[in-house]
Amino acid sequence: MTGFRNLVDAELVPGPGLTVITGDNGQGKTSLLEAFYFVATSRSFRTEKLATLVQQGREQLGVRAEIEEGPRTREQRAEIVRGTRRVAIDGKRPKRLIDYALRTPVVAFHPGDLELVSGAASVRRRLLDRVALFVDPHGYDARGAYEQAVKERQRVLEERGERAPDLEAYEPLVAEHGARYQAARERAAQALVEHLIPAFARIGPEGLPLTARYVPGGSTDPEVFRRELRERRSRDRQRLAPTFGPQRDELELVVGEHLARFHASQGQQRLVTLALKLAELACVAEARGVLPVLLLDDVSSELDPHRSLAVHELLRSSGGQVFVTTPRPELLSAFAGTAARVEWTVENGRVCAP
Ligand SMILES: Nc1ncnc2c1ncn2[C@@H]1O[C@H](COP(=O)(O)OP(=O)(O)O)[C@@H](O)[C@H]1O
Ligand SMILES: [Mg+2]
Repeated sequence: MTGFRNLVDAELVPGPGLTVITGDNGQGKTSLLEAFYFVATSRSFRTEKLATLVQQGREQLGVRAEIEEGPRTREQRAEIVRGTRRVAIDGKRPKRLIDYALRTPVVAFHPGDLELVSGAASVRRRLLDRVALFVDPHGYDARGAYEQAVKERQRVLEERGERAPDLEAYEPLVAEHGARYQAARERAAQALVEHLIPAFARIGPEGLPLTARYVPGGSTDPEVFRRELRERRSRDRQRLAPTFGPQRDELELVVGEHLARFHASQGQQRLVTLALKLAELACVAEARGVLPVLLLDDVSSELDPHRSLAVHELLRSSGGQVFVTTPRPELLSAFAGTAARVEWTVENGRVCAP
């Protein structure tokens, strides 16, 4: 990796099992996980603004990885050059970004993930999208075209009103792509919920059930979609936003009898988050037929007696390559038996691997 956040340019060889990354706060532990996530997905788990990944004072960044899957090895490369993202697999640019993101499945768990339960619906929609990418790549691929068409329709609606003839051209496009994208979201939600409920039953307190209800914001039927768009022209114009479609999806999580978002305790929210991660891992593993690489950022607070079971479960069900960061490696001594264990330290951006 070169030019990534505060990290000193380096070439690293991790082990096949557990790699524990230690170091004081602010040294670059999270950045290192982020570099792994970036080369696998061409995204970051902590920001949408990819420009912030480029080291201050540098023009570009690049992360290159040699990835073994079964008997084969491939090279993946992700770069940001003057604000533009470029990716390549074995030196070739994939046709679409999702072809790149599908290759090396990773699941990340980081402190910001607590927002999955306590945050806005958009955070849960991002989770559904990550799962949709793997369980229904074709449907998920409609997302770009959908968002483009929605933007055009909304612009026409706001600039030229409900009777603008262009709406007749845009709405069928919105409906067609929207219905496909909605179907991918629905399949993702189904798969996620199927794994989520038993996962929570395994790690949560006895007798406290979790229920999850997916509330679609649009329809998987292009005809229904189109009708709704037509009927909502005036409302969408007034609200300055499209009110029908997958961008309005919600995944309601209920612990006991109350919405987890508002009423669950901190500890319960953490458990539900871990259960969501277990479910994400299971969905991706099942759909992709390969164990995702697991990236756990700063799990120290998840290692109290109430939740360490969940982390054990994550490690066990991952069974593959795992990277864990923590300023307190002694907390992870219980995992000493987990496959081969390697310890790296990060100091002022420099990664020291034995
Ligand atoms: N683009 C960047 N260029 C240089 N330094 C950065 C950049 N982005 C973040 N940093 C710095 O990198 C340091 C390491 O951050 P982080 O990886 O979050 O540390 P840790 O996880 O070890 O606490 C922080 O001090 C942060 O200010
Ligand atoms: Mg950190």
